Amino acid sequence: MRHLLSLFDLSTEEIQAVFTLARSLKTQYKKGVREAILPGRMLALLFEKPSLRTRVSFEAGFAHLGGNSMYLGDDVGWGHRESPADFSRVLTQYVDVIACRAKSHKRVRELADYATCPIINALTDQFHPCQALADLFTLAERHENRLDGLKFVFVGDANNVARSLAIACAKLGVRFTLAAPSDYQFDMAFLKQLETAIPDLELHVTTNPKKAVFDADAIYTDVWASMGQESEREERLAAFSPYQVNSRLMASAPASALFMHCLPARRGEEVTDTVIDSSQSIVVSQAANRMHAQKGLIIWLLKHV
Ligand code: CP
Ligand code: NVA
Repeated sequence: MRHLLSLFDLSTEEIQAVFTLARSLKTQYKKGVREAILPGRMLALLFEKPSLRTRVSFEAGFAHLGGNSMYLGDDVGWGHRESPADFSRVLTQYVDVIACRAKSHKRVRELADYATCPIINALTDQFHPCQALADLFTLAERHENRLDGLKFVFVGDANNVARSLAIACAKLGVRFTLAAPSDYQFDMAFLKQLETAIPDLELHVTTNPKKAVFDADAIYTDVWASMGQESEREERLAAFSPYQVNSRLMASAPASALFMHCLPARRGEEVTDTVIDSSQSIVVSQAANRMHAQKGLIIWLLKHV
Protein backbone atom coordinates (compact mmCIF):
# COMPACT_ATOMS: atom_id res chain seq x y z
CA MET A 1 0.00 0.00 0.00
CA ARG A 2 1.23 3.52 -0.84
CA HIS A 3 0.65 6.94 0.73
CA LEU A 4 1.36 10.43 -0.59
CA LEU A 5 2.77 12.39 2.34
CA SER A 6 5.22 14.34 0.20
CA LEU A 7 6.42 14.04 -3.38
CA PHE A 8 9.46 12.17 -2.09
CA ASP A 9 6.99 9.25 -2.00
CA LEU A 10 6.58 9.12 -5.80
CA SER A 11 9.24 8.36 -8.42
CA THR A 12 9.48 10.33 -11.66
CA GLU A 13 7.77 7.47 -13.53
CA GLU A 14 4.99 7.33 -10.94
CA ILE A 15 4.34 11.08 -11.20
CA GLN A 16 4.17 10.67 -14.97
CA ALA A 17 1.73 7.76 -14.56
CA VAL A 18 -0.50 9.98 -12.39
CA PHE A 19 -0.32 12.71 -15.07
CA THR A 20 -1.26 10.23 -17.80
CA LEU A 21 -4.32 9.12 -15.80
CA ALA A 22 -5.21 12.75 -15.04
CA ARG A 23 -4.90 13.75 -18.69
CA SER A 24 -7.20 10.98 -19.80
CA LEU A 25 -9.75 11.71 -17.04
CA LYS A 26 -9.70 15.41 -17.91
CA THR A 27 -10.29 14.66 -21.60
CA GLN A 28 -13.24 12.43 -20.68
CA TYR A 29 -14.61 15.02 -18.25
CA LYS A 30 -14.45 17.74 -20.91
CA LYS A 31 -16.52 15.48 -23.18
CA GLY A 32 -19.10 15.12 -20.41
CA VAL A 33 -18.07 11.54 -19.59
CA ARG A 34 -17.87 10.71 -15.87
CA GLU A 35 -17.32 7.00 -15.72
CA ALA A 36 -18.11 5.51 -12.31
CA ILE A 37 -14.94 3.48 -11.91
CA LEU A 38 -14.91 3.60 -8.11
CA PRO A 39 -18.51 2.74 -7.14
CA GLY A 40 -19.13 2.28 -3.45
CA ARG A 41 -15.70 3.65 -2.50
CA MET A 42 -15.45 6.07 0.36
CA LEU A 43 -13.09 9.06 0.68
CA ALA A 44 -12.68 10.79 4.05
CA LEU A 45 -11.53 14.41 4.16
CA LEU A 46 -9.94 14.96 7.54
CA PHE A 47 -9.30 18.69 7.76
CA GLU A 48 -7.88 20.84 10.58
CA LYS A 49 -7.52 24.00 8.48
CA PRO A 50 -9.85 25.86 6.10
CA SER A 51 -9.97 25.03 2.39
CA LEU A 52 -11.89 25.85 -0.77
CA ARG A 53 -9.95 24.30 -3.65
CA THR A 54 -8.64 21.16 -1.95
CA ARG A 55 -11.83 20.17 -0.21
CA VAL A 56 -14.18 20.84 -3.13
CA SER A 57 -11.90 19.39 -5.81
CA PHE A 58 -11.51 16.16 -3.83
CA GLU A 59 -15.24 15.88 -3.11
CA ALA A 60 -16.37 16.71 -6.65
CA GLY A 61 -13.65 14.57 -8.25
CA PHE A 62 -14.46 11.54 -6.14
CA ALA A 63 -18.18 11.89 -6.93
CA HIS A 64 -17.35 11.96 -10.67
CA LEU A 65 -15.60 8.62 -10.17
CA GLY A 66 -18.75 7.15 -8.62
CA GLY A 67 -17.58 7.24 -5.00
CA ASN A 68 -18.77 9.08 -1.92
CA SER A 69 -16.88 11.36 0.42
CA MET A 70 -17.33 12.61 3.96
CA TYR A 71 -15.86 15.75 5.51
CA LEU A 72 -14.48 15.27 9.02
CA GLY A 73 -13.80 18.39 11.05
CA ASP A 74 -12.74 18.97 14.63
CA ASP A 75 -15.66 17.03 16.17
CA VAL A 76 -14.10 13.64 15.33
CA GLY A 77 -11.47 14.46 17.95
CA TRP A 78 -8.34 13.76 15.94
CA GLY A 79 -5.38 14.34 18.24
CA HIS A 80 -7.33 15.03 21.41
CA ARG A 81 -10.04 12.41 21.98
CA GLU A 82 -8.02 9.20 21.69
CA SER A 83 -4.53 8.06 20.78
CA PRO A 84 -3.32 8.67 17.19
CA ALA A 85 -2.94 4.91 16.73
CA ASP A 86 -6.50 4.08 17.84
CA PHE A 87 -7.87 6.93 15.74
CA SER A 88 -6.07 5.80 12.60
CA ARG A 89 -6.73 2.07 13.03
CA VAL A 90 -10.46 2.71 13.46
CA LEU A 91 -11.03 5.38 10.81
CA THR A 92 -9.18 3.43 8.14
CA GLN A 93 -11.53 0.44 8.60
CA TYR A 94 -14.45 2.55 7.33
CA VAL A 95 -13.01 4.26 4.27
CA ASP A 96 -10.87 3.45 1.22
CA VAL A 97 -8.71 6.57 1.12
CA ILE A 98 -8.13 9.64 3.32
CA ALA A 99 -7.14 13.16 2.28
CA CYS A 100 -5.85 14.91 5.31
CA ARG A 101 -5.05 18.61 5.97
CA ALA A 102 -3.20 19.09 9.23
CA LYS A 103 -1.39 21.72 11.21
CA SER A 104 1.62 19.50 11.68
CA HIS A 105 3.20 17.12 9.19
CA LYS A 106 4.13 14.79 12.04
CA ARG A 107 0.46 14.05 12.70
CA VAL A 108 -0.16 13.04 9.09
CA ARG A 109 2.84 10.74 9.29
CA GLU A 110 1.40 9.23 12.47
CA LEU A 111 -1.95 8.73 10.75
CA ALA A 112 -0.18 6.90 7.90
CA ASP A 113 1.88 4.77 10.31
CA TYR A 114 -1.26 3.02 11.59
CA ALA A 115 -3.46 3.27 8.47
CA THR A 116 -4.83 0.35 6.50
CA CYS A 117 -5.79 2.59 3.55
CA PRO A 118 -3.83 5.20 1.54
CA ILE A 119 -3.30 8.61 3.15
CA ILE A 120 -2.98 11.70 0.97
CA ASN A 121 -1.43 14.84 2.41
CA ALA A 122 -3.86 17.64 1.52
CA LEU A 123 -1.49 20.28 3.05
CA THR A 124 0.61 20.41 6.17
CA ASP A 125 3.03 23.01 7.51
CA GLN A 126 5.77 21.17 5.54
CA PHE A 127 4.31 20.04 2.23
CA HIS A 128 1.41 20.45 -0.22
CA PRO A 129 2.07 17.65 -2.73
CA CYS A 130 -1.36 17.73 -4.43
CA GLN A 131 -0.84 21.38 -5.25
CA ALA A 132 2.57 20.77 -6.82
CA LEU A 133 1.25 17.82 -8.83
CA ALA A 134 -1.53 19.98 -10.30
CA ASP A 135 0.87 22.87 -10.90
CA LEU A 136 3.40 20.82 -12.85
CA PHE A 137 0.55 19.12 -14.73
CA THR A 138 -0.72 22.61 -15.67
CA LEU A 139 2.72 23.80 -16.74
CA ALA A 140 3.15 20.66 -18.84
CA GLU A 141 -0.16 21.35 -20.59
CA ARG A 142 1.18 24.76 -21.63
CA HIS A 143 4.36 23.20 -23.02
CA GLU A 144 2.94 20.32 -25.08
CA ASN A 145 3.46 17.98 -22.12
CA ARG A 146 7.22 18.58 -22.06
CA LEU A 147 8.73 19.91 -18.85
CA ASP A 148 12.36 18.88 -19.17
CA GLY A 149 14.72 21.88 -19.12
CA LEU A 150 12.10 24.53 -18.27
CA LYS A 151 13.05 27.13 -15.66
CA PHE A 152 10.70 27.59 -12.70
CA VAL A 153 11.21 30.54 -10.33
CA PHE A 154 9.48 30.66 -6.96
CA VAL A 155 9.52 34.20 -5.55
CA GLY A 156 8.68 34.31 -1.85
CA ASP A 157 8.59 32.16 1.26
CA ALA A 158 10.24 28.71 1.20
CA ASN A 159 7.01 27.25 2.56
CA ASN A 160 4.98 24.05 2.14
CA VAL A 161 4.10 24.91 -1.46
CA ALA A 162 7.67 25.93 -2.40
CA ARG A 163 9.11 22.73 -0.90
CA SER A 164 6.65 20.57 -2.81
CA LEU A 165 7.33 22.43 -6.06
CA ALA A 166 11.08 22.06 -5.56
CA ILE A 167 10.68 18.28 -5.25
CA ALA A 168 8.28 18.05 -8.20
CA CYS A 169 10.58 20.14 -10.41
CA ALA A 170 13.65 18.12 -9.43
CA LYS A 171 11.84 14.86 -10.22
CA LEU A 172 10.59 16.13 -13.57
CA GLY A 173 13.82 17.72 -14.84
CA VAL A 174 12.67 21.33 -14.33
CA ARG A 175 15.32 23.83 -13.19
CA PHE A 176 14.15 25.42 -9.94
CA THR A 177 15.17 28.77 -8.43
CA LEU A 178 13.98 30.16 -5.13
CA ALA A 179 14.21 33.95 -4.71
CA ALA A 180 13.64 34.73 -1.04
CA PRO A 181 15.03 36.85 1.80
CA SER A 182 17.95 35.09 3.49
CA ASP A 183 15.93 34.35 6.65
CA TYR A 184 13.14 32.61 4.72
CA GLN A 185 14.98 30.15 2.48
CA PHE A 186 14.95 26.33 2.53
CA ASP A 187 16.40 24.80 5.68
CA MET A 188 19.53 22.66 5.40
CA ALA A 189 17.73 19.46 6.38
CA PHE A 190 15.30 19.81 3.48
CA LEU A 191 18.06 20.66 0.99
CA LYS A 192 20.03 17.64 2.11
CA GLN A 193 16.98 15.39 1.77
CA LEU A 194 16.35 16.78 -1.72
CA GLU A 195 19.95 16.33 -2.86
CA THR A 196 20.05 12.80 -1.49
CA ALA A 197 16.80 11.84 -3.22
CA ILE A 198 17.63 13.55 -6.54
CA PRO A 199 21.43 13.94 -6.85
CA ASP A 200 21.33 15.53 -10.33
CA LEU A 201 18.80 18.23 -9.46
CA GLU A 202 19.27 21.82 -10.66
CA LEU A 203 18.31 24.07 -7.77
CA HIS A 204 19.43 27.62 -7.10
CA VAL A 205 18.66 29.96 -4.23
CA THR A 206 19.05 33.72 -4.42
CA THR A 207 17.93 36.89 -2.67
CA ASN A 208 17.59 38.70 -6.02
CA PRO A 209 14.17 38.15 -7.68
CA LYS A 210 14.95 40.39 -10.67
CA LYS A 211 18.01 38.36 -11.66
CA ALA A 212 16.19 35.10 -10.96
CA VAL A 213 13.33 35.72 -13.39
CA PHE A 214 15.29 36.95 -16.43
CA ASP A 215 15.05 33.59 -18.23
CA ALA A 216 12.04 32.11 -16.38
CA ASP A 217 9.37 30.00 -18.02
CA ALA A 218 7.17 30.18 -14.91
CA ILE A 219 7.11 32.64 -12.01
CA TYR A 220 5.26 31.40 -8.95
CA THR A 221 4.40 33.01 -5.65
CA ASP A 222 2.35 32.23 -2.55
CA VAL A 223 1.27 34.16 0.54
CA TRP A 224 4.02 35.52 2.77
CA ALA A 225 2.37 34.26 5.96
CA SER A 226 0.83 30.80 5.67
CA MET A 227 -2.00 29.40 7.77
CA GLY A 228 -0.66 29.14 11.32
CA GLN A 229 1.83 32.02 10.88
CA GLU A 230 -0.64 34.84 11.47
CA SER A 231 1.32 36.16 14.47
CA GLU A 232 4.39 36.70 12.22
CA ARG A 233 2.41 38.67 9.67
CA GLU A 234 3.88 42.15 10.28
CA GLU A 235 7.52 41.07 10.26
CA ARG A 236 6.93 38.94 7.19
CA LEU A 237 5.24 41.83 5.34
CA ALA A 238 8.35 43.92 5.96
CA ALA A 239 10.80 41.16 4.96
CA PHE A 240 8.97 40.16 1.79
CA SER A 241 7.88 43.55 0.40
CA PRO A 242 10.83 43.63 -2.10
CA TYR A 243 9.61 40.23 -3.35
CA GLN A 244 6.20 41.29 -4.64
CA VAL A 245 5.42 39.91 -8.09
CA ASN A 246 4.33 43.06 -9.90
CA SER A 247 4.50 44.47 -13.44
CA ARG A 248 8.04 45.69 -12.83
CA LEU A 249 9.28 42.21 -11.92
CA MET A 250 7.36 40.61 -14.79
CA ALA A 251 9.01 43.14 -17.16
CA SER A 252 12.38 41.63 -16.16
CA ALA A 253 11.17 38.19 -17.33
CA PRO A 254 10.53 36.94 -20.87
CA ALA A 255 7.11 37.99 -22.19
CA SER A 256 6.30 34.28 -22.54
CA ALA A 257 6.80 33.60 -18.80
CA LEU A 258 3.67 32.29 -17.08
CA PHE A 259 2.51 33.58 -13.70
CA MET A 260 1.39 30.94 -11.20
CA HIS A 261 -0.09 30.98 -7.67
CA CYS A 262 -1.70 28.22 -5.62
CA LEU A 263 -4.43 30.59 -4.33
CA PRO A 264 -5.86 31.97 -2.12
CA ALA A 265 -3.86 35.11 -2.96
CA ARG A 266 -3.44 38.24 -0.91
CA ARG A 267 -3.74 40.66 -3.79
CA GLY A 268 -1.61 43.76 -3.23
CA GLU A 269 0.86 41.81 -1.08
CA GLU A 270 2.73 38.96 -2.80
CA VAL A 271 1.11 39.74 -6.18
CA THR A 272 -0.60 42.72 -7.77
CA ASP A 273 -3.93 42.65 -9.64
CA THR A 274 -2.11 43.66 -12.83
CA VAL A 275 -0.12 40.41 -12.74
CA ILE A 276 -2.64 37.91 -11.39
CA ASP A 277 -5.32 39.17 -13.82
CA SER A 278 -2.95 39.40 -16.81
CA SER A 279 -2.90 37.12 -19.85
CA GLN A 280 0.32 35.55 -18.48
CA SER A 281 -1.53 34.29 -15.39
CA ILE A 282 -2.68 30.65 -15.33
CA VAL A 283 -3.92 30.57 -11.73
CA VAL A 284 -7.48 29.49 -12.62
CA SER A 285 -6.21 26.58 -14.74
CA GLN A 286 -4.01 25.50 -11.83
CA ALA A 287 -7.04 25.46 -9.53
CA ALA A 288 -9.13 23.56 -12.11
CA ASN A 289 -6.40 20.97 -12.54
CA ARG A 290 -6.33 20.23 -8.82
CA MET A 291 -9.40 18.08 -9.45
CA HIS A 292 -8.05 16.23 -12.47
CA ALA A 293 -4.63 15.59 -10.93
CA GLN A 294 -6.16 14.31 -7.68
CA LYS A 295 -8.51 11.98 -9.57
CA GLY A 296 -5.48 10.53 -11.32
CA LEU A 297 -3.65 10.26 -8.00
CA ILE A 298 -6.53 8.47 -6.23
CA ILE A 299 -6.93 5.94 -9.02
CA TRP A 300 -3.17 5.33 -9.01
CA LEU A 301 -3.08 4.88 -5.20
CA LEU A 302 -6.08 2.54 -5.20
CA LYS A 303 -4.38 0.39 -7.85
CA HIS A 304 -1.49 -0.06 -5.41
CA VAL A 305 -3.50 -1.14 -2.35
N1 CP B 1 -4.50 25.97 -2.98
C1 CP B 1 -5.20 25.41 -1.98
O1 CP B 1 -4.83 24.39 -1.41
O2 CP B 1 -6.35 26.08 -1.68
P1 CP B 1 -7.32 25.77 -0.47
O3 CP B 1 -6.59 26.17 0.79
O4 CP B 1 -8.53 26.64 -0.71
O5 CP B 1 -7.65 24.32 -0.45
N1 NVA C 1 1.22 28.32 2.02
C1 NVA C 1 -0.21 28.42 2.14
C2 NVA C 1 -0.87 27.61 1.08
C3 NVA C 1 -2.37 27.65 1.09
C4 NVA C 1 -2.98 26.82 0.00
C5 NVA C 1 -0.65 28.00 3.52
O1 NVA C 1 -0.16 26.99 4.02
O2 NVA C 1 -1.47 28.69 4.11
